[in-house]
Amino acid sequence: MSSPAPARRVLSGMRPTGRLHLGNYHGALRNWVELQYQYECFFFVADWHMLTTGYEDTAQLQEHIQDVLIDWLAAGLNPGVATLFIQSQVPEHAELHLLLSMITPLGWLERVPSYRDQQEQLKEKDLTTYGFLGYPLLQSADILMYRAAFVPVGEDQVAHVELTREVARRFNHLYGREPDFESKAERAVKSLSGRNTTSYRQLRRKFQETGDTEALARAQALVQSNSRITVADRERLLGYLHGTGVTILPEPAVLLTTTPKVPGLDGRKMSKSYGNTIGLREDPEAVTQKLRGMTTDPARVRRTDPGDPEKCPVWDLHKIYSDEGVRKWVVEGCKSAGIGCLECKQPLIDKIVEEISGMRKRAQEFEDHPELVRDIVAEGANKAREAARETLDDVRRAMHLRAD
Ligand code: TRP
Ligand code: SF4
Repeated sequence: MSSPAPARRVLSGMRPTGRLHLGNYHGALRNWVELQYQYECFFFVADWHMLTTGYEDTAQLQEHIQDVLIDWLAAGLNPGVATLFIQSQVPEHAELHLLLSMITPLGWLERVPSYRDQQEQLKEKDLTTYGFLGYPLLQSADILMYRAAFVPVGEDQVAHVELTREVARRFNHLYGREPDFESKAERAVKSLSGRNTTSYRQLRRKFQETGDTEALARAQALVQSNSRITVADRERLLGYLHGTGVTILPEPAVLLTTTPKVPGLDGRKMSKSYGNTIGLREDPEAVTQKLRGMTTDPARVRRTDPGDPEKCPVWDLHKIYSDEGVRKWVVEGCKSAGIGCLECKQPLIDKIVEEISGMRKRAQEFEDHPELVRDIVAEGANKAREAARETLDDVRRAMHLRAD
């Protein structure tokens, strides 16, 4: 019947907000760069998501998409190992979104915290649209489409992954039934053979009777690692653990990104809307000037006034960029007024300029040859569509939208 849920797929998306800054880098991108070597990763530019709040002015959308893609590549995302694509080039997302919308109660969407929060925060925009209400479900479609095991996101997105889990559960409950599921599942248990059959039964019972999630994980691993059973039996065995039926859309888990606090130049969180950012491809001279002007502990008015790193945003940057030796030098020098703020910033300036210079160098080739970026995402869209079609075939079949 259906294809296997790839055990370790990761999916995440980013809105095309334009050029990225150090906050985006340390908040998400740096983590993606590491994940791409540990998992099968799909990363996409969420251009449709941008429309859910920015439908009025789309004039710069193409430019922003291109900027985000170049920044991804500059930061080290590697199209040789990760699949990079643009959401609207994989229209399958829209079909899955539509189908999921049929089974999603309105209340689930109205209860997503970002729904009211964003309407409050973005008062200047009219967000009483159908698209805005549905956007967390569009995100669910993005995730379920690839049967992703893990979704690396920040705190603000956790509720969306939770919604995704609920939708998947509901979908599997409604459509993941075969008429003779139980007897087929029992036959599959036997086909595991010998010791594995016994272990599967024991672990399943333990999970069902006591809710022991460790037993569940061990049973799942036992099924996943068995390469001799058929794909259909594997799905039955996974579904049978919960007792419901076939798992067509597996529930994803959040991979919570532990992100450092990245202060902007004014000490508030670095954010494009505050205009306090350092761009990933900014000119080294401009970066140096910006950092030299960055806010410090307000108590240090004169060079001779001692300061407190805990009250200084520059210190948060040292926590990201500086080794222990430099950090010790900062703390001692700041508290004793032994060093000045400009002196304190110098090792940071060196590190950040070095980091950004590397990114600028990598970006240059793509800036000079935009067609390279187009080719990368075209290939990415092809790969993504292949995976997406597999899921959609199963979904259509399960919903009896296909005859076979
Ligand atoms: N909603 C996310 C944001 O605003 C972007 C996003 C869209 C996403 N689809 C996703 C993130 C799927 C993770 C998985 O940042
Ligand atoms: Fe901040 Fe460094 Fe100045 Fe102390 S010396 S106030 S840590 S910039």
